[in-house]
Amino acid sequence: MTEHNVQLGKRRQLVAGNWKMNGDKALVEQMHRQLAATSLDNMDVVICPPFPYMGLFDGKVKLGAQNVSQFDSGAHTGEVSVAMFNEFNCRYVIVGHSERRADNNESDELVALKVRQVLKANLIPILCVGEPESVRDDGMLFDYIAAQLDAVLLEVGISQFAHVVLAYEPVWAIGTGKTASPAQAQEVHAFIRGHLAKQDDNIAANIVILYGGSVKGNNAQELFSQADVDGGLIGGASLNPEDFLSICQAANQ
Ligand code: PGA
Repeated sequence: MTEHNVQLGKRRQLVAGNWKMNGDKALVEQMHRQLAATSLDNMDVVICPPFPYMGLFDGKVKLGAQNVSQFDSGAHTGEVSVAMFNEFNCRYVIVGHSERRADNNESDELVALKVRQVLKANLIPILCVGEPESVRDDGMLFDYIAAQLDAVLLEVGISQFAHVVLAYEPVWAIGTGKTASPAQAQEVHAFIRGHLAKQDDNIAANIVILYGGSVKGNNAQELFSQADVDGGLIGGASLNPEDFLSICQAANQ
């Protein structure tokens, strides 16, 4: 067994469903039914529904939020705090999704503050990084990803990355049906792990790095079997319980 296999064996695969601004009460019920009927002992499943649906999930389903305020409380209309998530059995928070970076002008620095806030509450950030197509075309892929990571490293320090889940989501692959090839995903995941290893080998070896961007039932297994891919962040396919569960099964093997 190579050293890499030893490391991979220690990382438990994770699949998180990011419903974005989709779903309804009926989908919550369907998802409960299907999850209860499926045995997934070797991996973790997290559902990230819109805020109003969180309270409808029972304690057996691990929940994630799609966004969080960088503040503790107060006069911030429309925002939701980490303390509120702790009251709803919500253990994970997606931070820095490219849609929020684009739609809400979330900068690398703001994303870093949000990661710090999530960690302060003992919740787990799912920190998203990923390049637009033009950046890849210009040959700036690795510089771009490194800068996104460095902003957070500067804010919280490498030791805190022991409590972080990363998600590599190339912007050109999100919701487009244009998945990164397994080799493209692996290349960036290995780069991310190597970048963190410059500061701490052990944290780099153990951090879970998800791939996101048009993951479906028919491509999940090949993506998840790459050495540095530890599961997925799933958008569109997480809205269909059957598709989502088949992606989870791919991570369960
Ligand atoms: P997609 O979205 O699976 O629909 O491409 C992934 C994401 O945005 O997290």
